[in-house]
Order: sequence, then structure tokens, then C-alpha cells
Amino acid sequence: MVQTVSQAASVRGTVTLPSDKSIAHRSALLAALGAGESQVHNFPRSADPLSTLDCVRALGVEATRDEEGVLSVQGRGREGLRPPSAPLDCGNSGTTMRLLTGIMAGQTFGSVLTGDESLRQRPMERIADPLRAMGARIDLRSGHAPIRVRPHRSGLRPIEYRLPVASAQVKSCVLLAGLYASGQTVVIESTPSRDHTERMLGLEVQEVGGERHILVEETHTVPAAHWWVPGDFSGAAFFLVAGTLVPDSELRLENVGLNPSRTALLEVLEGMGADITIENERVQGSEPVGDLTVRSAELSGIDVGGRLIPNLIDEIPIIAVAAACATGRTEIRDAEELRVKETDRLHAMAENLRVLGAEVQEREDGLLIDGNGPNLLGGTVQSYDDHRIAMAMGVAGLVAHGTTTVTDAECARVSFPGFWDELSRVASS
Ligand code: S3P
Repeated sequence: MVQTVSQAASVRGTVTLPSDKSIAHRSALLAALGAGESQVHNFPRSADPLSTLDCVRALGVEATRDEEGVLSVQGRGREGLRPPSAPLDCGNSGTTMRLLTGIMAGQTFGSVLTGDESLRQRPMERIADPLRAMGARIDLRSGHAPIRVRPHRSGLRPIEYRLPVASAQVKSCVLLAGLYASGQTVVIESTPSRDHTERMLGLEVQEVGGERHILVEETHTVPAAHWWVPGDFSGAAFFLVAGTLVPDSELRLENVGLNPSRTALLEVLEGMGADITIENERVQGSEPVGDLTVRSAELSGIDVGGRLIPNLIDEIPIIAVAAACATGRTEIRDAEELRVKETDRLHAMAENLRVLGAEVQEREDGLLIDGNGPNLLGGTVQSYDDHRIAMAMGVAGLVAHGTTTVTDAECARVSFPGFWDELSRVASS
């Protein structure tokens, strides 16, 4: 699908957001491992969480959704999953593959995990290494999926694992495998990444010398529970930037997940001069949520790097759009992880923004963007089949003079199925 976006005079109204992808994956996986029925409120219809749900069903777990969007999952308990009759298809979803491999490593049956062409090119040694250290038997194809997990011989061993890369997916993979290890597994992260897994499992976290030590044991109970999935902050990010950049705008985003390990974008946008207010902050289940209002503002360039990066890892494409429309220079560094996402996001954003006339230099670990105010010019850009690139360029299209065309734009459904409708609904020309 090719999507055309015209320059907007304003964006106004209340945006309907999809539910949070990261929390949705975890709620489906933990519900499957809980003993008894769990209910997940607001389980999304985005393609990635649906991949997790399909995999969980392929492991013998019954899950049904009612008309109000509540997913009821009949958990089979940690030891109750059934051998799948075919490879587990994780689609485009790295989170599904990496978290589920941690669970599969603890099973007495074998499994194969595969995915689409993009997922089959993403690095999987990063999970195979710690899982092998725990005694799991994992085969990769040149470091990539398909991942073959052979049944373990005598249970997993606990490990102390210092994450070599700040990744919530790797952390969560090891923690989930730790539920099957005979003793205490400790995952150490020196740079914090999103903490949904430890929150939802209620794991003990110790702060030691500026690092986080997360502890998990085989005896830890996986609760059958009610999970609430809040609105996706990473989906809200596109509208926070649209509401800032398009003149005469005011957008409201309600019930948005505001987990502090996810919201560094707010800090960055505020530092650039954005006008965003937060109201009705509350806690829903294990996660903080609130309502956001964004109004138009002029932005200045900023430096983004270091410990902030894992906290806004999925927001860098849209930060690049904000930077291109700001005044002055923005430097994004320490972001080499973006090269191994659904596509090489540094390259994709540099190429696309240049098509619209922005001054962007690609660095090994980031981007250097010389913002030129609201002077982008419409053009034809590519999604690279990556949902976040497609949506970031859709927002750029609202600001660019004339018309912008985004190719293969349907990939937005991976995390935000109604994105293009919402974007055109709030925009006036
Ligand atoms: C996610 C972690 C991040 C993020 C991804 C979702 C998660 O990946 O980019 O969209 O739910 O744990 P990494 O942990 O690989 O950085």
C-alpha cells in the first residue's frame, strides 16, 4: 500500500492509541505460564502481539477474546505447555522470538522458532549465548533464526549474566529461562532498559554500585492475574511530535503508559522546547499511566545519547523528524542498536529525510541533523517495511510542503493498525 500525506494546517482532537506492544507480549506469555485463568484487558490487534498470541496457542494454550477486548487465557502452568506441531512463527516480532526462546529453553520438548525475512536477519547470538551458558541446547543458522531449541537433558543451570548490550529483550529472555533454572539467576544491567518483565513478574531488583541486579528463581510464582495493557507510549510518540510540529495544533492522548523506563522522549522534546502536559497520573496494574496534551511549539536542536538511548530506542526515528524541523543541530549518538532493528533505522531515516530536503549525516552510531525549521519538501520515501520508519515519515509528511508518499505503508499495522486513519482524522489542510 502506498500512503499519501499532505501538509496539514493543524492537527486537533483526541487520538485513539493501540495498546502497548511490549506489555501485551509479556501479558500473553505470562498468562500462558500462570496456573489458571488470566484476563488481559485491552489486548491489541497489532500484528506483533498477535504473533505472540498465535505462538502461545500453538503451545496448547486456549485464549479467547470477548467483545470488550478482554482476552481470557487458560494458563497451563510453567510445566504444562504442549509441544508445537510446527515451527513457531514469530512473524516480524523480535520480542516474540527472543522472549519465547527463553521459555522454550526450559521445556522438556524441542521447538523451532522462525519469522519473516526481516526477523530472520536479526542477531540471535545475543540470546543463544546466555541460554547455552544455562545449559540450553540452541542451534542457529549463521547467528540467525530459524532457532532450533532441543529439549534440555537435565534442567537449566542458574547464571549470573551481565548484559553486554542494553536490551530488554535479552534481559527478559534470560529472566524467563531463569524460571526454569535450579537456583537463583541474576541478570545485571549497567544501563537500564524497559522493566516490564521484572514489574509484571514482581521480581526482586537490587541497585548495586549504579547497576541493576534482577533476581529470578525457579520457585518464583507466575501469577494467574488480571493484566491491563495501557496505550502505547511508543505509538503516542508519533502524535506528540505531530502535535508539536504542525502549527495551530492541540492533541490529547489518553490512558498512555508512562513507565519511566520508556518516557525519555518527553525529556528530549521538552529540552527541545515542546509544550506537553501530563494529567491524571495513576497506576493501572503494575504500570503507571496518564493523559497527555501536546500543543504546537518551535523546537531547537539537542544532543541525545548515553543512558537515554535504551529508554527511547524506538522513538529515535520520530526524534530524527523533530530534529529535521527544529532550528539548529541535533546529534544522536550511542544508537548503533538501531542498525539491527526491523531495518537499519539510522540508514533508513538518513535516506528518507534527505529525500525531503533535510541535512542529515549518517554516523556509525547515530545521526547528525542540521534542522532547518519547517522547510521540508514533500517527496516519495520508503518504509523499508519497518512500521516505525513508515509512521515517522507519515508525520514528516504532515509538515513537509506539498505531498509526501510513503511506500509499503501497511507495515504500520505491526504496532499501530489504525495509524493512517488516525493521522488523517486529526489533520486539517
Ligand atoms: C522491546 C525492547 C526493545 C524495543 C522493542 C521492544 C521489548 O528492543 O526496541 O521494540 O518489548 O522488550 P531491544 O531490547 O532489543 O532493544
